Amino acid sequence: MELKIGVIRGDGIGPEIVAEAVKVLDKVGQVFGHTYTYQELLLGGASIDVHGVPLTDETIADAKSCDAVLMGSIGGDARVSPWYKLEPGKRPEAGLLKIRKALNLFANLRPAVLYDELKGACPLKEELTEGGFDLMIMRELTGGLYFGNRKTEEVNGVLTACDELTYNENEIRRIAVRAFDIARKRRKKVTSVDKANVLDSSRLWRKVVEEVAKDYPDVTLEHMLVDNCAMQLVKNPKQFDVILTENMFGDILSDEASMVTGSIGMLASASLNDTKFGLYEPSGGSAPDIAGKGIANPIATILSAAMMLRFSFDLDKEADAIEDAVSKVLEEGYRTIDIMSEGKTQVGTAKIGDLICERIER
Ligand code: IPM
Ligand code: MG
Repeated sequence: MELKIGVIRGDGIGPEIVAEAVKVLDKVGQVFGHTYTYQELLLGGASIDVHGVPLTDETIADAKSCDAVLMGSIGGDARVSPWYKLEPGKRPEAGLLKIRKALNLFANLRPAVLYDELKGACPLKEELTEGGFDLMIMRELTGGLYFGNRKTEEVNGVLTACDELTYNENEIRRIAVRAFDIARKRRKKVTSVDKANVLDSSRLWRKVVEEVAKDYPDVTLEHMLVDNCAMQLVKNPKQFDVILTENMFGDILSDEASMVTGSIGMLASASLNDTKFGLYEPSGGSAPDIAGKGIANPIATILSAAMMLRFSFDLDKEADAIEDAVSKVLEEGYRTIDIMSEGKTQVGTAKIGDLICERIER
């Protein structure tokens, strides 16, 4: 197969971790007989440095010409980076929001899995995570508060800021359908998270999700308020299968869920539209504090590449080969510093990438 893949290396540790994922993709290509055309795409600070803006229209057009996009991470340290002296709409994060909207990537899948080999890194008490957990956060990604009108103005001499939170029923329905479809292939439970005791947008969310649920009698639906969900994630994460939620709640809960696994450097994610196209990226951020040191964990990015092969190209065997290689490397005791524990072998970014490549087989 000939695959055209967009590559956003981005900022911070982005270039280092993407280099390892590309290395693994190349190895998969050799072993399974695929060829790639990589299209480099500039986003975030890397684009500001070249073009003065975090995303250009040319880059959007280039991304659209690809079958899928692999991304590292964007953004810098807001206390010191010159990117954050720019107006908010020209900062790195604005580029990310813009590309999500331009490519209509409304469905963001963020798995949070407790890996057996990494149980020690989980910050929860063992009795709470006995048997492990495996949940999927489905975050709505192109609506809500992050895309509403916003303004800061003086009202009667008092500085006042306003951000609008809007959802229409179609936006809610399409993400709900995705969540139920995915739950059907998992443990058949959807927890829809909202703040329906306060917000109108949440009451509409609940109503539409209930309508969609009628088409999935085999899937159990429960509703949970977002504050309670934040608590339940640390109290009993095993209760969850698919968590379906709106943009901001999903942003917050997905960071919490990934931290609870103890290994954010291991978690992949996918942002999908209603075609086979997707943007695949690690759940973690750009970690500017460790950028360039060769110690970042590239596994989440490598697993994101596996997710890309599976979701956008239906190359399940190839995706399995990557996931198996990652498991082997962990079983053999190799660790990057973020997941290091006593008695294991600590290696750097490029070395763990090499070890994974060596274990890719048909
Ligand atoms: C994420 C990030 C982004 C978001 C930021 C960088 C705009 O936190 O992907 O979760 O809030 O969506
Ligand atoms: Mg976030």
